[in-house]
This record gives sequence, structure tokens and C-alpha cells, in this order.
Amino acid sequence: EDTPVIGRKRVLLAAPRGYCAGVDRAVIAVEKALDHYGSPVYVRKQIVHNIHVVTELEKRGAIFVDEVDEVPTGSTIVFSAHGVAPTVVQGAADRGLHAIDATCPLVTKVHREAVRFARDDFEILLIGHEGHEEVEGTAGEAPEHITLVTSPDAVATIEVKDPDKVVWLSQTTLSVDETMETVRRLRERFPNLQDPPSDDICYATQNRQVAIKKVARDSDLVIVVGSANSSNSVRLVEVALEHGAKAAYRVDYASELKQEWFDGVRTVGVTSGASVPEELVDEVLGLLAGAGYGDVEEVKTAEEDLIFSLPKELRRDLNGNT
Ligand code: F3S
Repeated sequence: EDTPVIGRKRVLLAAPRGYCAGVDRAVIAVEKALDHYGSPVYVRKQIVHNIHVVTELEKRGAIFVDEVDEVPTGSTIVFSAHGVAPTVVQGAADRGLHAIDATCPLVTKVHREAVRFARDDFEILLIGHEGHEEVEGTAGEAPEHITLVTSPDAVATIEVKDPDKVVWLSQTTLSVDETMETVRRLRERFPNLQDPPSDDICYATQNRQVAIKKVARDSDLVIVVGSANSSNSVRLVEVALEHGAKAAYRVDYASELKQEWFDGVRTVGVTSGASVPEELVDEVLGLLAGAGYGDVEEVKTAEEDLIFSLPKELRRDLNGNT
């Protein structure tokens, strides 16, 4: 028997949510590459970490591979939004591939910081998740100089050669609060720790976390639309739970919503990760409306209007110099 719901049922819809400028650009780059060069177009790794986006692009002729050595010589390959190590770029060139680099410019910015601090002989403490593609790409810029710091607790065991020449950088899609805690502990151990020249956690990650915090404190349940390997989506679930949501779940599709999550729930918070097309959120809202949660109020904490131009290799080809 369901717990009775007292009061009006409603949805608080977080804004900003969904596509960031880097994801939008990367997905359009693959679509335009398919139109321009014809299929197949190869893509190294998932172009963005969303199962729906990947499946749709596969239907249109994109072939997703793990490494460049799986791609036939002479083909076109797109590097994903998460960025690649220089060895991957070189590997593609060695195979005679036509590479289009869809790395988000905000990831490229972190790569440049890594290169510069390594050149100045700093030891770089890179805060991020082991095995995440972005971390592999960034670390690949200066493998000798980079030590990965995976959590606040990991700080205790970090060893450095010269504690006066250390800087921290980070993955772009982390929890802002947890990263600040990691930095605080790093600074406790290394008081001369240098900060990055600007935020590495990107505007989109930050904005989505600010919005879900506001939504979560008034929500009985938070639904985050996003894929399991999407770092920023998984963080949104954690942030919602830390900021007052009684429960929070991540789903790829509306069909994954479970009846039992809604027992006694009056207010449902909804958001989506930076790699999630809005149609997937619409499907969730449709299902919620059918369950009596048709009253939707948007909770907006920031405006976003950033747009990135397409990768330069693609722009050049689209302008007629293939
Ligand atoms: Fe770029 Fe941030 Fe999106 S790094 S791909 S704008 S989540």
C-alpha cells in the first residue's frame, strides 16, 4: 500500500541542465563529419558519455572504437570531447588517419596548463578519477610530472619530490565541494601548493551543481538523467543527496523510473548531466505527468549562452578544401 502523499504533487526542474557547449560541439562535429565525408566516420571512445547519443550516431554511420589502431588507414577519426594524450594524436597521424579533434576547449585549457607547469618543472597533482578518459588524456601531456589524486582521503599518502614546487589541476567534471576539500588537505600537507590559473572544473559542471543544490533541498526525490559513465551526471546524484534530497537516482531513460521510488513523494527534482539531450528529460517529465506530477516549476540559478566553434580541421573541410 502506497504511503499517502500530503499536499500538491510537483516537479522542480533544475536549470541549467543538459547539454554544455563542449558536448553540443562534439555531437554536431560527428553529425557534420558524417554529412560531409559520408559514413563510416570513426570515433575514438564515446564522443560524449551518453548511451542514447552514441546509439543514435551509430545508426547514422558512426563507428566507435577504443583505439586508433582499430581504424583502417586513410579513414576519418573524431577524437571525443574528453580529450586525448599526445601519443594518440601521433598514433592517428602514423596510421594516415584524417583526425578531427572534438576535445572540449575547456579540457584543452587544462592540457595547456599541464604542459606549461611541467615545462616549469612543477609536480602536478591532478585531482580526478582513475581510468576516466579525460584524466588519461591530461596525464598523457606530462606523464613524468603528474600524480593522480583520486579523493580527499588519498591526499595522506601522496609523495612529492619538492613540496615547494607543486601545483594542483583537476578534471573538469568533479564535485566542486569535494575537490575543494581535497585541495584543503593538499595545502595542509604542502603549504606552498600553487593554484591553477583559473577554474578547471568547468562552468557547466559548476552551474548544474548549483542548480541541483537549490532543487534538492525542497525535493523528496531527485531524478538525474544521465549515463553511468558520465562523471558530471554521477556527481549530480551525490550533490543532491548531500544537499537535502531524501533520495536520488540516475536513469538513462524514463523507462527506468521505478514505482516504489515515489511512495510518499510530493516534490520530485529533475536534472540532467552535461551530455544528455533534452528529449530524454522530456520523456521523464511526460511519465511523471502521467503519475500526477504534471505541475512543473523551473528553478533557474544561471543563464548559459556559451557556444564553441567547430573543430578547426572540420571547419576547414566544410569550407571547401577537402
Ligand atoms: Fe567541456 Fe565542461 Fe562540457 S569541460 S564538454 S563544457 S562538461
